[in-house]
Amino acid sequence: MSFDSRFGYNFDDLRDLAKKRLPKGLFEFVDRGAEDGAAIRNNHDAFGRISLYPRPLRDVSKRSQAITLFGRTQPLPFCLAPTGAAGLLWYQGEVATARAAAQAGIPYAMSTGSITSIEKVAEQAGGELWFQLYLFPDRAMSMQLVQRAKAAGYRTLVVTIDTTVSPNREHNYRNGFNIPLKLTRRNVWDVMTHPRWGAGVIGRYLATSGMPRFDNLPDALRRSMAADQRKTGLMPKNDSLTWDDLKQLRDLWEGTLIVKGIVHPDDACEAVRCGADGIVVSNHGGRVLDNAPATLDALPAIVDAVGDRTTVLFDSGIRRGSDIVKALALGADAVLVGRAAMWGTAVGGEAGAAHAISMLRDEVDRVMGFIGCARIDQISRASCFRPPVARVG
Ligand SMILES: Cc1cc2nc3c(=O)[nH]c(=O)nc-3n(C[C@H](O)[C@H](O)[C@H](O)COP(=O)(O)O)c2cc1C
Repeated sequence: MSFDSRFGYNFDDLRDLAKKRLPKGLFEFVDRGAEDGAAIRNNHDAFGRISLYPRPLRDVSKRSQAITLFGRTQPLPFCLAPTGAAGLLWYQGEVATARAAAQAGIPYAMSTGSITSIEKVAEQAGGELWFQLYLFPDRAMSMQLVQRAKAAGYRTLVVTIDTTVSPNREHNYRNGFNIPLKLTRRNVWDVMTHPRWGAGVIGRYLATSGMPRFDNLPDALRRSMAADQRKTGLMPKNDSLTWDDLKQLRDLWEGTLIVKGIVHPDDACEAVRCGADGIVVSNHGGRVLDNAPATLDALPAIVDAVGDRTTVLFDSGIRRGSDIVKALALGADAVLVGRAAMWGTAVGGEAGAAHAISMLRDEVDRVMGFIGCARIDQISRASCFRPPVARVG
């Protein structure tokens, strides 16, 4: 794992560098949330409301961040979240990011909405790969994709359930952002004024495989979505799905099943009832329902509701190692990191993603030292000054 000062010293440095490098439409696609950005603010503010007690004189000279997740030991308490279109940030960005994760010994979740195919990432990256699935109304189509992932060696399936309808991201319409990318009057200048990205990403795709597109989606679906993304959104419509669909998937999938996109304790219990091995407490980084509660606020009640019946993962709003520690303190077993790693990939491909991972690792290590915890299982609600009261509902 490498810290590289070219990429700066924290999340904001990485984001600033990414902002310079990427066309505005793409930068905003990653950076922003839905509508007015209320859920993003909620996530951010919730971390600010919790502080951690310094606890000196506890011999923390041998600190370890190792955890065991779904039976596998990993050296860090976080994983890389599924993020569609990472392949637009860097040429074959999914391979670059997955390699950085493999080097760090942590899982990388490959999104349904990836530009690079699940097979290519499995062949070229190695490491612990998870496959994230958006369930389609056409159940057979979903199962074909699951079979592809299984054949390619993926053993953990992350089913994202929070994208019931297409999220309203007005900045995408305003910037003319679409996948596959179309050069329009609105975005051609944007692309021309970012020549490094143009040559290094789009240029390389055009010279090899053509305009980048969602390589994992069945052709028919890709065509219908490409026709008018203002109406359909970037992901297929799936508002007819129910918990029974999840149950059926559980019956078909023998590997580890993680349900992502839970904010209410009753839904967490429903996922457990359907047989989920793990859940991700997530509001999708504020990208779906604007005005969703902060996931950090929602976490304690969910942890109390499910007890030890399932593994609780957490995401949305992680910018610092201290954010990771706060989520662990409130009961998460591990954390997923979205944009923090994406900015790394955007500025330096594999090296950039490795830098982002390394920054978070160092920050978690430092916080553990200050709060007197040498091991992750020593971090608890008692580490927090004024932890939030668990509320159900
Ligand atoms: C650009 C972008 C694309 C994303 N694509 C997906 C996706 O395809 N599937 C999914 O389950 N979550 C997706 N997410 C959500 C992430 O998995 C994760 O929940 C979120 O990024 C966590 O918040 P953070 O970015 O503040 O860390 C995406 C997030 C971003 C920023």
